[in-house]
Amino acid sequence: MAASGSSKRRRRFDDDGWTPSPTDHDHDDHDHQDRDHVDDHDCDHDRDRDHDHDHDHGATSDDGPDPDEPAWSSYRDASRGPEPVPAWVVTDPRATDVDHGVLKTGKEADVSLVERTLDVEGEPVHRSWLAVKRYRSAEHRMFHRDAGYLEGRRVRKSREMRAMATRTDFGRDLIAGQRAAAEFAVLGRLWSAGAAVPYPVQLIGTELMMEFVGHDGVAAPRLAQLRPDRRLARNLYDQMREVLRQLADAGYAHGDLSAYNTLVHDDRIVLIDLPQAVDLVGNPQGFAYLRRDCENICTWFAAHGAPHADATDLEAELLRSVPGA
Ligand SMILES: Nc1ncnc2c1ncn2[C@@H]1O[C@H](COP(=O)(O)OP(=O)(O)OP(=O)(O)O)[C@@H](O)[C@H]1O
Ligand SMILES: [Mg+2]
Repeated sequence: MAASGSSKRRRRFDDDGWTPSPTDHDHDDHDHQDRDHVDDHDCDHDRDRDHDHDHDHGATSDDGPDPDEPAWSSYRDASRGPEPVPAWVVTDPRATDVDHGVLKTGKEADVSLVERTLDVEGEPVHRSWLAVKRYRSAEHRMFHRDAGYLEGRRVRKSREMRAMATRTDFGRDLIAGQRAAAEFAVLGRLWSAGAAVPYPVQLIGTELMMEFVGHDGVAAPRLAQLRPDRRLARNLYDQMREVLRQLADAGYAHGDLSAYNTLVHDDRIVLIDLPQAVDLVGNPQGFAYLRRDCENICTWFAAHGAPHADATDLEAELLRSVPGA
């Protein structure tokens, strides 16, 4: 498939003094990606969409893009995820990206699979799998829930505030960029706090690249797809409580928690889809979102092998973790 998004960036390496990050080969506790070979993935390719037009971030070579030139990694030019950068992240700008297509088209973004590979003669191949979430800007978005989520987030320029309020294309682009930036920031904070969320690798505009949760390009199932036995259901519910406590500790509610926004990778829960994560203290509706998250997830667990899951108990437990609440 043709490269798209950040993978369309073209760069040459004869003009700068970039050196690989010193953390490139360090190890740390979040080293989820230890794979070293590629299999076909069974993702739901939605190849009809054409994302190319709005994801070319410039930085092309002087004589224009060459279709035969590889798509160089855009890591160096992006906002990058928190330190310590996990060892599986390919940081070297000599790496190339191959876009394997859209895994899932969501309400506000498309998520694609990108394989980033550093293949330098005489060195072992270093590869990482990335989930690339591209927020849609001007078209095909649903806005009905933005109002609550934007509350409490400050946008300084009133022109921007008006544009968002009236949903002009300019305003929609701003919202898409804000959502991507919000998700990137929240993932960084939660990952740094040790919570089970994907590591946010990089951000450029409306495009967020994060750790791909799965094996060799095959995505982990959503919790909603599973029918766990009672033992596993109890275990997954315990993990859910733990990760929600970590969110509450950091001052957040997920804001859209469901069995669809939870992946289960080798029996371990990973929370995804966090652009609307709610600041529990700063957002006046924060506790209402927390309550709704508890109800949604407990309803699912109570119906799927963990009958003790109770929204009121969970909410009380989480409230005890909120700093200053
Ligand atoms: N880091 C990841 N690793 C693997 N798969 C992922 C990852 N992030 C997202 N996905 C896949 O893409 C889907 C959509 O992601 P996400 O929920 O973040 O986007 P969305 O636009 O809110 O979609 P939806 O409207 O379906 O909620 C997920 O359900 C999951 O299958
Ligand atoms: Mg989602």
